Amino acid sequence: MLIIFGASGDLTARKLVPAIYNLFKEGHLPEHFVVLGASRSNLSDADFRQRVVLESTYLKNKFKGEAASVIESFANKIFYTDLGSDYDTDYTGLADRIASLNQEYGTDENYIFYLSTPPSLYEAIAKNICEQDLSSEANGWKRLIVEKPFGYSLESAKQLNKGLHQYFKESQIYRIDHYLGKETVQNLLVTRFANSIFEPLWNRNYIHHVEITNAESGGVEKRGGYYDKSGALRDMFQNHLLQIVSLVVMEPPIGANAEEIRNEKVKALKSLRIMRDAETLHQNTIRAQYIASTIDGEKVKGYREEEGVDPESTTETYAAIKFFVDNWRWADVPFYVRTAKRMPTKVTEVVIHFKSPHHQIFRDAGMNDKANKLVIRIQPDEGILIKFGVKVPGQGFKVERANLDFYYSSLTETHVMEAYERLLLDAMQGDATLYARADEVEAAWEFVDPILEYWKNSDEKVYGYSAGVWGPENGDDLIEDLGTWRNPSENLAEDPGFCVIC
Ligand code: BG6
Repeated sequence: MLIIFGASGDLTARKLVPAIYNLFKEGHLPEHFVVLGASRSNLSDADFRQRVVLESTYLKNKFKGEAASVIESFANKIFYTDLGSDYDTDYTGLADRIASLNQEYGTDENYIFYLSTPPSLYEAIAKNICEQDLSSEANGWKRLIVEKPFGYSLESAKQLNKGLHQYFKESQIYRIDHYLGKETVQNLLVTRFANSIFEPLWNRNYIHHVEITNAESGGVEKRGGYYDKSGALRDMFQNHLLQIVSLVVMEPPIGANAEEIRNEKVKALKSLRIMRDAETLHQNTIRAQYIASTIDGEKVKGYREEEGVDPESTTETYAAIKFFVDNWRWADVPFYVRTAKRMPTKVTEVVIHFKSPHHQIFRDAGMNDKANKLVIRIQPDEGILIKFGVKVPGQGFKVERANLDFYYSSLTETHVMEAYERLLLDAMQGDATLYARADEVEAAWEFVDPILEYWKNSDEKVYGYSAGVWGPENGDDLIEDLGTWRNPSENLAEDPGFCVIC
């Protein structure tokens, strides 16, 4: 039984129920599976089904051509219970409902509690679940999935971990990071550790620098209130991007089980060089905010004009960080990571820039631009591309750059699971590999905390960038002698170097 707290919120309808529907359609759900939504809205089972299934805009496309009986049998697996006016209340009513559904549908007392509420409620909800003896694994297993943000700082993340550990064991807690559910993020592990051609080069001897870009074309939309208290560093970098960094940086694990992989990821995160002094932080971090602009003839609001945002806000919607990794493999290799909203396109990619050949024998002007690159495209146009030099046919040795690529879309037979679909299935099967462990989350905060503190307490500038361009004018300053960021196109193989301006 999947019990969702905060079930009347947006995430349930937008992500969770569609993911469960996919699992249902593909035959992955156990026969006796049911969902129980719980929140503070006064809804009946039928109302809830209408909202998250039958009239859901997020399922409309999936339902096209589907028999009414199939949709109905899916909807009939979904129930709702009203918690009253407060999440911090007595859960006797909830416990009774769980017990009766368990009895009726034979769920063997195997329960997943999914917390999709503000994080300030996590501990209280865990306590109330525990008071009903619902966290005990005497009969059946019990798991707790928590959504991000997991803490607001290192201190609050530690408090939260400590709070939850009073009621659930670490092995019962699944901290969701939906980037880990993305097929292409997991493929980072496979690219590195299932091939013998990359790993020997995956170190300071061959890699010049590593660049990670996470760009979104959208702004903060309706989440201004949340985002203004968070900012790009907390919203994307501390979790999703540092998870990607850990997969790029980590040493080969002994095996593929959850603990071995997560042990190596923690080690990787702990080896990031923490920047503490103002001078280093000033030189290696850039923050900025989008300002009003016109994109393709359409007026776009600036961040400070967005609903729920303080008109004098200094919250960053763009963050770019340069850092080093203090271990044998990565000594002196700079990492450049940026994330931003209102960029020209939506794209996430990791680029491994290899060093130029140590001795150049083809003295072609511009040869330096032709150094090898490995582009790992996380989204869209998911795939992998290697840039390498080839001879231009004809006299002499003129070298041009060519691409060798693989696209997930070419696997027409394969259904690529959506992130939430994969992660929910893993949690049902008790596989925590793609969930963040307490020490991972804390190690990530340890790196991020001093940057946030510095930005808060110093007069470090917040630059502006027009909505629809690749960040502030000085964004490239971070890259020093290397030139510029690689501004990727929507298509993996395209090198556009474009930007949309008003
Ligand atoms: C969320 C952030 O975790 O990830 C959002 O809170 C962001 O601000 C989103 O838009 C991006 O996810 P994706 O999968 O669309 O890249």
